[in-house]
Amino acid sequence: MNILLTGGCGYIGSHTAISLVNAGYDLILLDNFSNSETCVIDRIQKIAGKPIIFVEGDLRDSNLVSKTLKDNNIRGVIHFAGLKAVGESVKNPIDYFDNNVQCSISLLQAMIKNNIKKIVFSSSATVYGIPQYLPYDENHPTSAINPYGRTKLHIEEMLKDLANSDPEWTSIVLRYFNPVGAHKSGNLGEAPKGIPSNLMPYLVQVASGYLGALNIFGSDYGTRDGTGERDYIHVTDLAEGHVAALQFMFREQGWHAINLGTGKSTSVLELVHTFEKVTNKKIPLNLTSRRAGDLPAYFAKVSKAKNLLNWEAKLNLEDMCLSAWQSRKISIHE
Ligand code: NAD
Ligand code: UD1
Repeated sequence: MNILLTGGCGYIGSHTAISLVNAGYDLILLDNFSNSETCVIDRIQKIAGKPIIFVEGDLRDSNLVSKTLKDNNIRGVIHFAGLKAVGESVKNPIDYFDNNVQCSISLLQAMIKNNIKKIVFSSSATVYGIPQYLPYDENHPTSAINPYGRTKLHIEEMLKDLANSDPEWTSIVLRYFNPVGAHKSGNLGEAPKGIPSNLMPYLVQVASGYLGALNIFGSDYGTRDGTGERDYIHVTDLAEGHVAALQFMFREQGWHAINLGTGKSTSVLELVHTFEKVTNKKIPLNLTSRRAGDLPAYFAKVSKAKNLLNWEAKLNLEDMCLSAWQSRKISIHE
């Protein structure tokens, strides 16, 4: 069965491609390389052990997307493509609405034209906003606290309206918690351009000697050790979650929001200590002030994924840290 992955050369898309090939799907990857490198295609093909069809282009080119869907007899879409840096979205909000919301409109128009009504969408736990209770379950009220989050909410709501307008549509909105780690081969990983803003890629660069010390953004939260707590999930588990979501998508109809997390919270210091243990590297630390816009703590309720998708995360924090470290040769742009 042919599946289109938009943004398929990015961090989560490339890992999901491997899981989908292993599950027997045929893939078409569409990417404009705004945040990935062409060499990822070779790496995916090498690990998958078979050629993958690839289309270079921008999702906002609805004619190209429509032709891609038609020429490849696509049956369903996983929509990863988008911009994802919260700080950048505050500085350049219109770029985020253009690249995230406009891309999604263009994709959905092309899908409607080709009578394809099955989509899995990459959303984020950020749509829950300030926690009213924890763990966040899927019925927790949503509210965006930055433009990036607002684009995710707009797209979620667009998909809900579409499903309400036509019962043949199925949209599975996956709300990812904090994906980290890399494929066990060490040949795929998270390769941010410039200085990383997220914790794990920053930690890898400190351990490799490219950055001097890890700044810990706040040590005075009311958490276990005063540092921020998050629900880190291994990207390989997340990738397997997409296989389960795709199977669910083809047997269900309607709009479904599902958390993909582990249900466990880990503090920044706990993550650093686990990283030090598995890599045998000492991480220099600077305790600094809180980062604007950060929440103290959050984690997922994961029972809906277990019940609907029969999926749950299997890999632990040590697996996440070790695999992130083992992929450092491709994660750092020299
Ligand atoms: P990524 O930047 O590594 O991958 C996104 C890919 O989409 C890149 O390869 C990029 O080149 C491509 N792309 C961007 N705009 C495009 C366009 N207009 N046309 C075609 N291709 C385009 O990001 P990721 O970490 O793999 O995230 C994938 C999705 O998951 C994103 O939508 C992101 O918002 C969401 N998400 C990510 C995280 C995370 O921590 N990584 C957390 C929650 C949600
Ligand atoms: C961030 C985004 C979130 C997005 C996710 C993936 C914000 C407010 N949230 O999540 O919307 O979905 O990235 O792109 O930006 N930390 C440090 N030092 C660092 C980096 C991070 O102490 O150098 C701490 C943070 O304060 C936080 C934790 O580590 O407590 C995780 O941070 P990060 O990896 O950036 O992810 P989030 O902020 O949870």
